[in-house]
Amino acid sequence: MARTLEIQPGGSLRGTPRIPGDKSISHRAVMFSAIARGTSRITGFLDSADCLATLDAFSAMGVRHTREAAALVVQGAGRDGLRQPGAPLDLGNSGTSMRLLSGLLAGQSFDSVLTGDASLSRRPMARVIEPLALMGAAITADNEGRAPLRIAGGQALRGIDYTPPVASAQIKSCVLLAGLRAEGVIRINEPGVSRDHSERMLAAYGVDIVREGRSLSMTGGQPLEAVDVAVPADLSSAAFFLVGASIAPGSELKLSGVGVNPTRRGVIDILLAMGADIRLINERDQAGEPVADIVVRHAPLHGIDIGSDQVELAIDEFPAIFIAAACAYGTTRLTGAAELRVKESDRIAVMADGLAALGVEVSVQPDGLSIVGCPQAASFSGGRIAGHGDHRIAMAFAVAALRADAPVVIDDCEAVDTSFPGFAELAASVGLGINARPVP
Ligand code: S3P
Repeated sequence: MARTLEIQPGGSLRGTPRIPGDKSISHRAVMFSAIARGTSRITGFLDSADCLATLDAFSAMGVRHTREAAALVVQGAGRDGLRQPGAPLDLGNSGTSMRLLSGLLAGQSFDSVLTGDASLSRRPMARVIEPLALMGAAITADNEGRAPLRIAGGQALRGIDYTPPVASAQIKSCVLLAGLRAEGVIRINEPGVSRDHSERMLAAYGVDIVREGRSLSMTGGQPLEAVDVAVPADLSSAAFFLVGASIAPGSELKLSGVGVNPTRRGVIDILLAMGADIRLINERDQAGEPVADIVVRHAPLHGIDIGSDQVELAIDEFPAIFIAAACAYGTTRLTGAAELRVKESDRIAVMADGLAALGVEVSVQPDGLSIVGCPQAASFSGGRIAGHGDHRIAMAFAVAALRADAPVVIDDCEAVDTSFPGFAELAASVGLGINARPVP
């Protein structure tokens, strides 16, 4: 059912909301556990629609899991233990599931088909089909490199020395996963930094993987040994609270145990550069990932220029960052961010339309946009926003209401559950005037 969110204007955020587990790390924990030898206990797993799509895919391939208190316990099937699914694997809205699974399935002995919802079926998959084909995989896509993907089993995969056309953790991880069933050496030369959760976690599962500068290499065919994974809170979900507290006078939040991996922490650095009052305390390592508690207070923000070197580090946080920019003194300019156009929605166009609907002056370029901030108490008029079935668009405009002078209504918000089930309830518990109601 399409869901509409209605948020009353104004207010502040105060408290210690518990941010759910990291989506990227949860996907990887399930995938690596499923093909490892032995039993892995995953704590902090994100029970969201996207991660459950990954878990369901492995159930369909014979991997067993149970729930024990706070842990998801996965019985690894081992290197050759997956079995052919009886039906196409429906990955819903989840690009990470589809791109990583295409690599994991490319070298299996059985055929498989990957499908997704309307948004996922529009997203580019040629970027994974291409390197996999170079490794010897046989994958066909129906419409110009888009899902459904049909993967023919029984192909002998070989090593690869590959430079992806864009910096992307999904492409990198796809190739690494295929490499686990390939002969020879797998080398990936990254054109820019991308999140390194796969490398960190593969090493924890016993895979010998070496980074030299922007290049990663590993010998193909290595087995994985089960380990326990403690998933940190998701910085991408925390981002809505970081922005909400930064823009709403009187706010102070403490977010505990949030992942602050240097390849992911762009949103913190961008907000700090805008003048935000954000402090990281109790920084520590949790199962190979840096985590910290984050204290954020309201602060006046100013506009900045954000260049391509910062884009991948904050790739999923721009909807929230644009809301901060709209409340800042001066103009914020983002360039080099064309990748935002091929996320769950075209996040440049959709955010620009939504900001304009709330009275913000915004101009759009092919690879970014400029936002003229309005530092007055009410930076936004109220209004009705199209959520476009994109979780991060809905949550970004929800926190914008903190600086609006009339209610903000957001349609088509059911996708919030893909990354942040319970967002409305959690945000309400710290002061956002939000309630979820069915479409009239
Ligand atoms: C992800 C990588 C990013 C990000 C996505 C999750 C991952 O995509 O946008 O939400 O888990 O690997 P790209 O690496 O393709 O930019």
